[in-house]
Amino acid sequence: MFEMSSSSVSISILAVVAMQLSFIHNVLSLNQTNSYLQHICINSEGTYKQKSSYESELKDHLDIMSNILDYGFVHGVGGAGSKTYYIKVLCRGDASESKCRSCLYTAFSVYGTIDNCFLYISEIYTFQKVDYKHYLYLHNAKDVNGNTKLFNKNTRALLYKLKEKTTRKEQEPYTKDYMYATGEESLGTMKLYGMMQCTQDLSVKNCSVCLDSIIAKLPRCCNGKQGGRVLNPSCTFRYELYPFVKA
Ligand SMILES: *[C@@H]1O[C@H](CO)[C@@H](O)[C@H](O)[C@H]1NC(C)=O
Ligand SMILES: *[C@@H]1O[C@H](CO)[C@@H](O)[C@H](O)[C@H]1NC(C)=O
Repeated sequence: MFEMSSSSVSISILAVVAMQLSFIHNVLSLNQTNSYLQHICINSEGTYKQKSSYESELKDHLDIMSNILDYGFVHGVGGAGSKTYYIKVLCRGDASESKCRSCLYTAFSVYGTIDNCFLYISEIYTFQKVDYKHYLYLHNAKDVNGNTKLFNKNTRALLYKLKEKTTRKEQEPYTKDYMYATGEESLGTMKLYGMMQCTQDLSVKNCSVCLDSIIAKLPRCCNGKQGGRVLNPSCTFRYELYPFVKA
């Protein structure tokens, strides 16, 4: 996403990040994270230069935000020079506060996408809004054996079940599992595991709208794959044939 050759390169200021549960702090090497997945950069939502005061402003801001991750979600507004930026940080509901914090640091330094947290930086105001433009698709390399159509149908059914759970009425804001749900479904001798989450700035209703939009991307992301996920800046899901979240 960014070139190192020149001191005036621009870095797009969107990163979508998640990471595996290993504890990592300020690791710049992707090798060590063992879990680099993907990122999106949207130049239209702003760029900044490496080692600029803007970057250090962002870093300082993230440092402060990292101290208030107790329920796994934080958003903030800041300014550097004449620019205003908006930051959202969301950690997966099963990530501890310290995992969440280290994930955030890694997210900022590697601009990668992983498993456990999500960092979104933009100069466009996106709080409470559902993003219909930016989607990341990731899938398990393995195809399912047997009836693909049936498997897709079962996956969709699990996702709709999780959507109900994610948008349940009786849930408390400012908790780690607010608009977060996990679940599983037996498929003969196998089991399908799923996770779903919205960023906590959304209303429950908009969470539901966001989830519909990502579930609709299931064929595009994961047709016949043993696992997969769709992420956008407001919500995400993942499914696998093995457990991947902590109980
Ligand atoms: C680390 O990453 C570099 C660059 O992608 C690669 O060439 C190297 O083989 C990796 N090393 C290990 C131990 O994975
Ligand atoms: C729901 O999303 C729409 C479109 O993204 C936004 O304009 C609206 O303000 C949101 N509603 C609430 C209650 O947050």
